[in-house]
Amino acid sequence: MTRLGTTVDPRSPEHTEARTEALERLAALDAEHAKALAGGGEKYTARHRDRGKLLARERVELLLDPDTPFLELSPLAGWGSDYPVGASMVTGIGTVEGVECLITANDPTVRGGASNPWTLKKALRANEIARQNRLPCISLVESGGADLPSQKEIFIPGGAVFRDLTRLSAEGVPTVAVVFGNSTAGGAYIPGMSDHTVMIKDRSKVFLGGPPLVKMATGEESDDESLGGADMHARVSGLADHYALDEYDAIRQARRIVARLNHRKPYADPPRAAEPLHDPEELLGIVPPDLKTPFDPREVIARIVDASDFDEFKPLYGTSLVTGWATLHGYPVGILANAQGVLFSAESQKAAQFIQLANQRDIPLLFLHNTTGYMVGKEYEQGGIVKHGSMMINAVSNSRVPHLSVLIGASYGAGHYGMCGRAYEPRFLFAWPSAKSAVMGPAQLAGVLSIVSRQSAAAKGLPYDEEQDAGMRAFVEAQIESESLPLFLSGRLYDDGVIDPRDTRTVLGLCLSAVHNAPVEGARGGFGVFRM
Ligand code: COA
Repeated sequence: MTRLGTTVDPRSPEHTEARTEALERLAALDAEHAKALAGGGEKYTARHRDRGKLLARERVELLLDPDTPFLELSPLAGWGSDYPVGASMVTGIGTVEGVECLITANDPTVRGGASNPWTLKKALRANEIARQNRLPCISLVESGGADLPSQKEIFIPGGAVFRDLTRLSAEGVPTVAVVFGNSTAGGAYIPGMSDHTVMIKDRSKVFLGGPPLVKMATGEESDDESLGGADMHARVSGLADHYALDEYDAIRQARRIVARLNHRKPYADPPRAAEPLHDPEELLGIVPPDLKTPFDPREVIARIVDASDFDEFKPLYGTSLVTGWATLHGYPVGILANAQGVLFSAESQKAAQFIQLANQRDIPLLFLHNTTGYMVGKEYEQGGIVKHGSMMINAVSNSRVPHLSVLIGASYGAGHYGMCGRAYEPRFLFAWPSAKSAVMGPAQLAGVLSIVSRQSAAAKGLPYDEEQDAGMRAFVEAQIESESLPLFLSGRLYDDGVIDPRDTRTVLGLCLSAVHNAPVEGARGGFGVFRM
């Protein structure tokens, strides 16, 4: 074994300062998560309960095996938008009858559970996770359909939700819909396109058009029950496969459906793994408040991998990127972690070689981001930094083993791409509250804008207003800073959630278990042409 040591001193002033800052950020994060948990707020929650209904998270909890975890995804969706935090939907991965499933649940306390543009993004992301990892999908449906005032944002792209369901089914990934209430118009295609449906007596309403619309369209008089009640669908139309007497019965029946899926995970669970030697609590004091101060990512690795056991690859070459092998909750992983922030040619070549090795060995990759991007300047351009950065990005793009990304510090510029940022489709991407991500740092971006404006004024022979320039710089810097923060990025679904650093090992363990529902097979060739 190659045990990583530590030089972290939890009593040092630097550690204490970083920890204090981290705890403040976590408190702010908790306050935002609380908004998602509160759903539509007291009034709508009380009304929902008075109707004898369970809340979205209670439905999920009852569906899961007792005392098993639920990895909630995108809880901050919609943050910073005009819509409530959480986007009127709960999504996540949990275990039902021993089977890891992707679960979605509309939150009917938020605008009748209607889907706004962020709900749609969140639902599509959930479908993507189900497809990539071959996770059976369970939809707990109760929704007013499209959020009508924002229909222009959702009507056309929204068709993909139903398309995805039938494609999952075609690929042999099971889909189950449990209808707790309204599931009308487009919403009717959720049960319509699912492999298995459960409907609830006097509760489910599944029809293309409700009584008012039918009256308008054909003049026919009708009522909810005859158009789309559970009784009708179970006895007459055949859309309901299972007829439940109440919500509890519906959840019980959904669990029985999963128990009968004959779902076989292609890999046995790994044996119980040893915990890291070093205390994960210390993860709070490792990232300095000022991201310009470098820190050793081995201190993070030592607190997330099994037994802090890490075999480094090329430790003396391209030292600003740490690469090496470990296991995490028993699953093998190759880790790429930025050390000094900047990626040079050697780091890029080392990364490309390491990614190829992981593909040859069918080993998932974990990217720990703290990069300001690829090195600029004459020496580096002449040394081929564009070629070598392209080589790394090529390797990341065409790698076929599952990738997991965690933004722990900076993730700027093309460094975000090379380290498998969102556009490179990591299976999962999480951020620590300390992370920042943008095309470049706020001060650098404001400075570049200032130089460009100055040159433009000079070219026109105009004087340059220094006072206005200072004002512009301060404004732009503040704007870019706020747009680089995890809450903002998570609100836009650019990650799958912002996590407490102390939970990193658990979250990654759940992700690794989830990705092993699909075969882990690396690319044996199939990379683009590498510029050497
Ligand atoms: N778009 C935007 N807002 C909606 C909405 C929708 N599709 N559905 C409900 N809301 C809003 C309501 O206006 C209401 O807002 P308010 O409290 O500020 O007045 C709030 O959500 C709660 O709706 P309410 O009707 O009081 O809740 P309910 O639980 O009694 O009924 C529905 C829920 C979904 C059955 C009912 O609102 C409904 O029929 N909505 C329209 C469904 C529809 O036809 N959708 C089109 C599908 S394409």
